[in-house]
Amino acid sequence: QHCMGINGLEKIILRENRGFSAEVYLYGGQVTSWKNELGEELLFVSSKANFNPPRSIRGGIPICFPQFSNLGSLEQHGFARNKLWTLDPNPPPFPTNSNNRAFIDLLLKNSGDDTKNWPHRYEFRLRIALGPTGDLMLTSRIRNTNTDGKSFAFTFAYHTYLYVTDISEVRIEGLETLDYLDNLKNRERFTEQGDAIVFESEVDKVYLSTPTKIAIIDHERKRTFVLRKDGLPDAVVWNPWDKKAKTISDLGDEEYKHLLCVQSACVEKAITLKPGEEWKGRQEISAVPSSYCSGQ
Ligand code: BG6
Repeated sequence: QHCMGINGLEKIILRENRGFSAEVYLYGGQVTSWKNELGEELLFVSSKANFNPPRSIRGGIPICFPQFSNLGSLEQHGFARNKLWTLDPNPPPFPTNSNNRAFIDLLLKNSGDDTKNWPHRYEFRLRIALGPTGDLMLTSRIRNTNTDGKSFAFTFAYHTYLYVTDISEVRIEGLETLDYLDNLKNRERFTEQGDAIVFESEVDKVYLSTPTKIAIIDHERKRTFVLRKDGLPDAVVWNPWDKKAKTISDLGDEEYKHLLCVQSACVEKAITLKPGEEWKGRQEISAVPSSYCSGQ
């Protein structure tokens, strides 16, 4: 379903039989809403978010491509989140017999204005799908379509803003004992100590070579987000906490309490594609009652 979103920007709504839904803006190719069968919002979007190109939308799932963070010569998190994507009217079907799920394919290609800092031709196909039990699946296929024989390299993240009831009551499982780069300490490498990740101050870490399954437990809401990823070895965890939040103009001062970014990513080792080569990276999130997960 196509409709007009904020400021006249085009958006598409996906619905699943049991009542799950998702909302996707063509601007940024960005998921801005994911609701469960009770209509509860599962993603965080700032009340101060700008739906004003060329600014990026604070919340949902921005796509960081072809650069994560400010690690290269491009703008922070690359240009994909600031572009108008197009909807593929005839997307290829799912490879398995699961065609009944709601999905759309968005496309991004070199529009000429990226050429200055990133002189490459590419085709980026982003599939956004709602699974039969409401899980939100994002699959990116990026192809090098250069005709000059040149390879290109990129880093990537699904910058997922999860909505949490109270960040102080949230725990992440699956990242303990791993190595990480700490963005708050000049990207120095450390090893995570302790049982599970909890939050009591600003966090900005890139966990390296993580397991493919990460659990984010919202104790207060008794909800667990289960994140599964494929082709994306790293996981970025970010919460700005109070002081940093005040410096971010499109984030309310107290809103940091309700957001937790857990991002399937490829940061430490860039992906290199030769002409004609394609890369695929997938993230799937489901939201289940916490009791359902215990003991798993
Ligand atoms: C995180 C980075 O992924 O995104 C942080 O690790 C950054 O360093 C944050 O502050 C938000 O970035 P932006 O550009 O959306 O404000």
